[in-house]
Amino acid sequence: MKAVAIKAFGGPDGLSVVDVPAPEPGEGEVLVAVEAIGVGGVDAVILSGSLGDLGFREGLVPGSEVAGTVVAVGHNTDRSWIGRRVWAFTGLGGGYAEQATAAVEDVVPLPPGLSAAASVTLGSSGVVAHFGLQHARFSPGESVLVRGAAGSIGILAVHLAAHGGAPAVAVTTSSAERGELLRKVGATHVLDRSGAGDDTAPPAYDVIVDIVSGPDLPSFVGKLRPNGRLVAVGAVGGPPPAELAAALMANFRKSVTFATFSADTVASAERRTVRTAQFAEAADGRLPLVIHEQLPLDDAVLAHRKMKNGEVFGRIVLLP
Ligand SMILES: NC(=O)c1ccc[n+]([C@@H]2O[C@H](COP(=O)([O-])OP(=O)(O)OC[C@H]3O[C@@H](n4cnc5c(N)ncnc54)[C@H](OP(=O)(O)O)[C@@H]3O)[C@@H](O)[C@H]2O)c1
Repeated sequence: MKAVAIKAFGGPDGLSVVDVPAPEPGEGEVLVAVEAIGVGGVDAVILSGSLGDLGFREGLVPGSEVAGTVVAVGHNTDRSWIGRRVWAFTGLGGGYAEQATAAVEDVVPLPPGLSAAASVTLGSSGVVAHFGLQHARFSPGESVLVRGAAGSIGILAVHLAAHGGAPAVAVTTSSAERGELLRKVGATHVLDRSGAGDDTAPPAYDVIVDIVSGPDLPSFVGKLRPNGRLVAVGAVGGPPPAELAAALMANFRKSVTFATFSADTVASAERRTVRTAQFAEAADGRLPLVIHEQLPLDDAVLAHRKMKNGEVFGRIVLLP
């Protein structure tokens, strides 16, 4: 079958179309004939090579979320999955391919009205946005800043905060045009990447959902209100500098909290419940889904170049 593998770490040009044997589902797994693949910021981070310490190696087929039809199941696995249209989390890789395997606990049926392409903009991101806000102990009436809001996680975090009763939802983004799009999903204030650019924005926030991390993270600690919580859910700007600890201590008297959040720490049954509910809402048009562009799987290099150039609002979807 056709797949796309990381031949060399470093950037988009390290991706190559390859011919590999189709995977076989193991016990408790399904095999999905893939119709749509979500291209996530996490794929770009893996492709950069910066996660080598976590076991990612050259040769890997990246891609953690796909949607399509179940065509086979492993030994001792419920055969009623066969023929069902599903969204599936493929784990640490394997998604950029014509067929992919996934554990049944990470497979969710697609409701009528939700396309495969739409589901891969929501399946992973929606859960991170939902539980990221929960991890930050967000409650109605609190102000929220979403840093790096122009990707799938950010768009959903803005929507959920606004619909969850945040009176102010500020975003950081690199363009006024994206700011206008983010206002449509619930942003009340649009800031530049440094956190400036709107004099009417609150000076500080109860909750910051941070998808960027990187060298500027310490300056956002100063944008927390007393008892404010900053939760890092991503690192598209790279790891934070050592000054982060100094920034936290400099805000000692505000009792601020810094936390990381990974969806890996949420029980799979809870992830499934939230995904199922979000898919139903999306099928009814009650959740924003932003497909930036759909490209053939062969164009994975182009997809990653567009991400690297900062051209993508929402998510690129690859079609095998
Ligand atoms: N916590 C979890 O369980 C979990 C699960 C999946 C993924 N992730 C993480 O989430 C991140 C990807 O999320 P995503 O797909 O929503 O993000 P994304 O689309 O890759 O990026 C979001 C936005 O961040 C801004 N940005 C990019 N580079 C930046 C930089 N150097 N400095 C400041 N802003 C920058 C860009 O917007 P502007 O140009 O408009 O500023 C970009 O559109 C990855 O770090 C991934 O590892 C976490």
